[in-house]
Amino acid sequence: MSLKEQFGKDVLLTGWGHSKFGKLTDETLESLIVQVSAEAIRNSGFEPRDIDEIYLGQFNSGMQPLGFTSSLALQLSEDLANVPATRTENACASGSAAFQQGVKSVLAGTARNVLVIGAEKMTNAGADVVGAALLGASYEMAGKASTTGFTGLFAEVAKHYEKRYGAGIHGSGLERPGFAGGLGDILGSIAAKNHRNGMDNPYAQMHRDFGEEFCRTVSEKNPMVAEPLRRTDCSPVSDGAAAVVLSRGPASGAATEPVRLAGFGHANDFFPAELRDPTEFAATRVSWRRALGMAGVGIDGLDFAEVHDCFTIAELIMYEAMGLTPRGEGSRAVQEGWVYKDGKLPINVSGGLKAKGHPVGATGVSQHVIAAMQLTGTAGAMQLPNARRGAVQNMGGVGIANYVSVLESV
Ligand code: COA
Repeated sequence: MSLKEQFGKDVLLTGWGHSKFGKLTDETLESLIVQVSAEAIRNSGFEPRDIDEIYLGQFNSGMQPLGFTSSLALQLSEDLANVPATRTENACASGSAAFQQGVKSVLAGTARNVLVIGAEKMTNAGADVVGAALLGASYEMAGKASTTGFTGLFAEVAKHYEKRYGAGIHGSGLERPGFAGGLGDILGSIAAKNHRNGMDNPYAQMHRDFGEEFCRTVSEKNPMVAEPLRRTDCSPVSDGAAAVVLSRGPASGAATEPVRLAGFGHANDFFPAELRDPTEFAATRVSWRRALGMAGVGIDGLDFAEVHDCFTIAELIMYEAMGLTPRGEGSRAVQEGWVYKDGKLPINVSGGLKAKGHPVGATGVSQHVIAAMQLTGTAGAMQLPNARRGAVQNMGGVGIANYVSVLESV
């Protein structure tokens, strides 16, 4: 069933913009927001005066001194004067929080066109400030000293996963030929895949095809950050922004065909770690079920997915949460080649957070923009043949705030 049948309206992505991701010393949070907003509105065929509402996804949490950023996009045009603008915060899923708020405004009929922006400027702050800010998304670690930062939290997830599904447990497949190093090799393969894919993404922070051997091996150039996660198992610290215009209908003069939202899901989990199974991402699973259910498709109905690989272990567990494999068998998706660019469900052909970069508040909107490019045949070197329907999944914290969208070509 379409959104039109369920809610009486379609929600279309009519225009989008994306900055380069990386250490952008010449850009400010404001310049990034204005740049991608201008691009998105221009491409949509609408004018700034047609925008009824603005949502900005940004985490901040101490990385930027300015703590009140909702109005920054208004700098783009005096025609944006008095447009209601709100910042959304849901940790690393702040961008998708903005997206889904925008969707609800269009569905509620309170806005015809919503400008959704995701932005983050992380590299101005020192590594200690960034580490402390990101740990603000952990119930247990917020405000506490840590030498391993957020990587340490996902390292614990990886340890639990290996303990439960490691060597010798039926079905785990962690020790198949070519993967004798168990979980470490699987994670290294995921890193190598996403770094390879990132080579084709002009917006990506890292254009480095490290290869499997490098990503699987601890070395001076690839040190252990938090056992068992090496540097190549982590997303980098990034600046960047992306924006999309959500509309009830298209405008003449748009740069591309629009993309239709087919379904969306959001689920938050309990915050304290002892209330969650670290190996499952149970609420992520629910967000997938909600989005796919609303779209009326199964996982087999997707041509690609962009998922939240903040750390390689997150992408591995995602294969299970999205229903690609049963729990504990996510490694099969790598070993059998399903998630590669030529596989049955290419995952993170953009390079993912791993290679594209992870300016945390920007990520969810970036994923939607990349998916929209795929669905309109405008993804350049990243383009997949016959991409008609794809999904986007974005996560805040360790499986806490979870968002999935299903998008399709019109
Ligand atoms: N993956 C691969 N290479 C990376 C990298 C990453 N994530 N981060 C940095 N590098 C490379 C740099 O390009 C540089 O290469 P060069 O020496 O060939 O020029 C080298 O590693 C050193 O860069 P530097 O910035 O000094 O690395 P670092 O050790 O200070 O930081 C991490 C690396 C992984 C610790 C840091 O990127 C990090 O903390 N990432 C996680 C961020 C996070 O928690 N985000 C929220 C997720 S929920």
